[in-house]
Amino acid sequence: MPSIVVLGTQWGDEGKGRIVDLIASRTDLVVRYQGGNNAGHTIVTDGKKIILHHVPSGILRENSLSLIGNGVVIDPKVLVAEIDALRSAGYPVSPSNFLISERAHVIMPYHREIDLLREKRRASGRKIGTTGRGIGPVYEDKYARRGIRMLDLTEPEAFRNRLVSVMAERNAYIEKVLGAESLDPERVYEEYVGYGEVLRPFISDVSAIVRRSGDEGKRILFEGAQGSLLDIDFGTYPYVTSSNAGLGGVFSGTGAVPALISSIVGVAKAYTTRVGEGPFPTEESGEIQDALRREGEEYGATTGRSRRCGWLDGVALNYALRTNGVTAIALTKLDVLSGFEKVKICTGYGYNGSVTKEFPASLSVLESCEPSYEEMDGWDEDLAGIKSAEHLPPNALRFVKRVEELTGVPVWIVSVGPQRDMYLELRDCVVSR
Ligand code: GDP
Ligand code: IMO
Ligand code: MG
Repeated sequence: MPSIVVLGTQWGDEGKGRIVDLIASRTDLVVRYQGGNNAGHTIVTDGKKIILHHVPSGILRENSLSLIGNGVVIDPKVLVAEIDALRSAGYPVSPSNFLISERAHVIMPYHREIDLLREKRRASGRKIGTTGRGIGPVYEDKYARRGIRMLDLTEPEAFRNRLVSVMAERNAYIEKVLGAESLDPERVYEEYVGYGEVLRPFISDVSAIVRRSGDEGKRILFEGAQGSLLDIDFGTYPYVTSSNAGLGGVFSGTGAVPALISSIVGVAKAYTTRVGEGPFPTEESGEIQDALRREGEEYGATTGRSRRCGWLDGVALNYALRTNGVTAIALTKLDVLSGFEKVKICTGYGYNGSVTKEFPASLSVLESCEPSYEEMDGWDEDLAGIKSAEHLPPNALRFVKRVEELTGVPVWIVSVGPQRDMYLELRDCVVSR
C-alpha cells in the first residue's frame, strides 16, 4: 500500500509544505491530520509565494484531492479567506478537489481571546510564545467535550443551544479568571452559522474517503503540521503545541489504519530553527545565528516573528526519527549552508560531566546541556541548479552522508532552494513518479 506520511522532525518550519507539494505531484490525495492555522506552509511556484495555513499543501497539484482530517482545528474565517486567495491566484478550490472532515473542531473567537489573554498574563520567562490563533484552547475544549465541530455549524438549532451553554462557561472564565470582557453568544452564532453556510458543500466524511481510497490502492500522503519536537506528547513540554504533530496524529486525525502506511518521510532542515519560547540546545547567537537567519530567510510564515537559529541537532533529530519510525529523510535548505567556512552537527549533549545521545524529557537538563559538535569543512558553491548527488560539492555530499551515518536513515530528497524544481533525489526509495 503506497501511502506515506510527511512530518516535521524539528520545531516546525522544516519545509514540509515544499516537500508535500513536490511529492503531491505523484499522489492521489493529500490529507492534513492535525494542527490549525498556527501552521504556515510555504510553496514557491513560478516566482509566486503561497503560504497555506489550513488547506493541504497538495492543493496546487491538479492530480491530487486535498482533505482536512478530523484531527485538524479550523478557523472558518481564515479558511474562507484562504480559499478566496487561492482562487484569486488561479488555483480553483471546490468540493471536487477539497473537502473538510465534519468532525474537525472549530476555532471560536473565545479560543483566540483566551490564548492571547493567557499569553499576556504569563510572566516574562513563562510565556510559550504561541501563535495566538487559539490552538491550545480549542484542543482543550475538544478533550473537555465542550467543542464545536464543523458539522455543528450546519445544524443551526442544535448549534445555538450548544453554543449558549459552552459560552456561558467560557465567558465566566474570560471575565472572572482572565479579567476581560465576555463575548456575545448571539453575535458569535450569527457569524459562525454564516461560515457553516459557505463551507457546507466542503464538509464531508473524510475518514470514509481515506478508507475507500486506501482500499482502491490510491496513493495517499498524510501531511503533518508543526514538528515532532512540538508534539504534545513527545515534544519539549510544555513548550509545545496542543496536538500530536508526530505519527500518532495520523491515525487519530484521519481514521487511517497503520497497514495503509508504507513510508514515513521526516523533513529535516540542514540546520535548526525554532520560533516561540522553549529549550533549544544548539541555538546560536551572534554572527552564525544572523547568517543562518539572513541566508535562510528565517521569519515565521504565520506570525512574521524572527526564528531562532542554530546548527543541526543530531540528538534531537535521532529522537524524532525514533519516535516517528521515520523511514526516509527529506533534507531541506542545504543551500543555506553554502558559504560557511565550517558547518557543524551536534552529536551529543554534555550534562553533569558526561555526554548523552538521548534527548532528555527534563526541561532543566535540556536547558543546561552543552552540545558537543562535529565540525566539517564547508563549501561555497551555489547549489540551486544541482540535480544529482555527483554534482554536489564534495563537502556538501559529505554533510548529507554524515547525516545518514549519524541517523541510520537514508536521505531521499535533498532540497537546495525554495522553488519547485530545486531538489535532487538521492535514491528512489519512497514514491516514484
Ligand atoms: P513548513 O512550515 O515546514 O512548511 O515550512 P515554512 O514554509 O514555514 O518554512 C520553510 C521556508 O523555507 C519557506 O520560506 C520555504 O519557501 C523555504 N524553503 C523550503 N525549502 C527550501 C530550500 O531547500 N532552500 C531554501 N533556501 N529555502 C527553502
Ligand atoms: P508549521 O506547520 C513553527 C509554535 C509556536 C509556539 C508553540 C505553541 O508551519 O511548521 P501554538 O500557537 O501552536 O499554541 O504555539 O508552537 N508553533 C510553530 N512553530 N512552525 C509551526 O507550524 C508552528 N505552529 C506552532 O511558535 O512556540
Ligand atoms: Mg511553517
